[in-house]
Amino acid sequence: MLTQKLAIVTGAARGLGYAVAQQLAAAGCKVLLVGRDAAAIEAAARRLRESGAAGGADAVAHVADIADAGNVAALAARLRREFGRADILVNNAGVFLEPRDFSNPQGASVFEVAPELVAATWNTNALAPLRLIQAIVPLMRENGWGRIVNVSSSMGQLAEMGGFWPGYRMSKTALNALTHLAASELKGSNVKINSVCPGWCSTEMGGPEATRTPEQGAASIAWAALLPDDGPSGGFFRDGQPIDW
Ligand SMILES: NC(=O)c1ccc[n+]([C@@H]2O[C@H](COP(=O)([O-])OP(=O)(O)OC[C@H]3O[C@@H](n4cnc5c(N)ncnc54)[C@H](OP(=O)(O)O)[C@@H]3O)[C@@H](O)[C@H]2O)c1
Repeated sequence: MLTQKLAIVTGAARGLGYAVAQQLAAAGCKVLLVGRDAAAIEAAARRLRESGAAGGADAVAHVADIADAGNVAALAARLRREFGRADILVNNAGVFLEPRDFSNPQGASVFEVAPELVAATWNTNALAPLRLIQAIVPLMRENGWGRIVNVSSSMGQLAEMGGFWPGYRMSKTALNALTHLAASELKGSNVKINSVCPGWCSTEMGGPEATRTPEQGAASIAWAALLPDDGPSGGFFRDGQPIDW
């Protein structure tokens, strides 16, 4: 890369977020790892710095609960004050608050889910990315360059929507709508936004039976974070290929 990009990755202490941070560091980015557990996010940034990944020396921790509006504002203020830039935003942090036994969806029915659980899931998976985009896109526009990746899921695809897990599913469908809306309003700028489904990956959320490694899922996300100027915007991708909404 000619100029070093600053990449902000939320939920980067473990799982897909950490693997994305590793891959973006290896691609030459300076990476700001965001997490709400101070000890965990600082340990992750240290691990990345010490891993020897190219660019890993430039891994920095930032403590924030992305579901907290004040924390998001403080993150944006730090970006402006300390770095004067925000080139890549990976909206990766997410929660799956419903029972997650995929072989037995009982207890995860749309007719039984607590609306409070749906609201809590939305708050982290859809509203927090909205707040982050509102806070960070102005800096991207000022610098004339930006890439935003909303880490979504096939569980949010209307084309494939089955029953059960309504909180998680609807939060990812809403996140995809955010991708559409923002891409439409960003048309003509060099700020691109896409949704990515990483596939079923063996993280704390995905569980040990998942068919892909976090590194495989992260590669899809890193691809969208590093799109060239003639790359797509407003799409939904897995492994660099468009998928149905
Ligand atoms: N794994 C899969 O198969 C799969 C498939 C499709 C999509 N995804 C999506 O991929 C993303 C990453 O998932 P993962 O599998 O890596 O899950 P994970 O291992 O559970 O990691 C999620 C990360 O998000 C953080 N987080 C959650 N709420 C937060 C908040 N309010 N503020 C800051 N950080 C917060 C968690 O931190 P704490 O430790 O503090 O909770 C954790 O570091 C999610 O958006 C998920 O929906 C995953």
